[in-house]
Amino acid sequence: MAGAGEEAAAIGDLFLILMVGAAVIWSLVVGAAVYAHRRRAHPGLEREARLFVIWGGVVFPVLLIGALLVWGLFLLKGITADEGDLTVRVDGERWWWRVTYETPTGDVVTANEIRLPQGRTALFRLTADDVIHAFWVPALGGKMDMVPGRETTLALTPKKLGNWGGLCAEFCGGAHALMRFDAVVMAPDAFETWLAREAETAQVAADDPGFQVFLDEGCGACHTIRGTQAAGPVGPDLTHLAGREKLGAGLYEMTPEHMARWITDTHAMKPDIDMPPYPHLSGPRLDTLVDFLMRLE
Ligand code: CUA
Repeated sequence: MAGAGEEAAAIGDLFLILMVGAAVIWSLVVGAAVYAHRRRAHPGLEREARLFVIWGGVVFPVLLIGALLVWGLFLLKGITADEGDLTVRVDGERWWWRVTYETPTGDVVTANEIRLPQGRTALFRLTADDVIHAFWVPALGGKMDMVPGRETTLALTPKKLGNWGGLCAEFCGGAHALMRFDAVVMAPDAFETWLAREAETAQVAADDPGFQVFLDEGCGACHTIRGTQAAGPVGPDLTHLAGREKLGAGLYEMTPEHMARWITDTHAMKPDIDMPPYPHLSGPRLDTLVDFLMRLE
């Protein structure tokens, strides 16, 4: 069946078999009921009926459901594998995604955008910071719960290039429906280039006027920009913010207009989130800050 990843295809096949199988069995059961209704009693009927119940009602379902169970368990083993060509940790936050690539040279932290190399198996190690979330990229594979204090795993092997989009699939509070992310499948070479760049620190001049506004407003208390003194652990890492396709966890195109509105009218853009709005910012001061953020590529 269609899908952009191996695991989605396997789940799609299972779904198709279940649906077709259910339709066939439903037809047989209805057929048997109609047949029984029209059948006239005769001396051997009771024995025939008993045999029919034993074969059709016990042996056949046990074999069929047993086979489906074994198939399903193998499939589950594949999609919750504990090995991959790369490992990505994702923490569910309210209401965004903290993303950490584990590389031989150390962790690379980003947020709300997951880039994956085509044809490689990515092992996701999932957890949550506060409440239960669920990680789901429908085009690539199954969903998996993210539980505080516990780690779950999920393997995804994307086959097709593109941005397939992901979302939270477990009701987790106010902005649950707006807890989305981008899942971008890239050619392996392009992915390696992207990851190497993502690992770099930001190039920020100490006297950058936009960075001064950033610090003055206290943004660095919550956000980290690697390579600067802004090292807040609360909100998304902003080191390569402008390199992401979307703003606000998969919600808005990354444009200066959206950025300005995000800062000043935050809760109209995304209700209930912890980030406070900065409505007092306007004019050149806001422009300077937005310009600075849009240079964090
Ligand atoms: Cu996170 Cu719903």
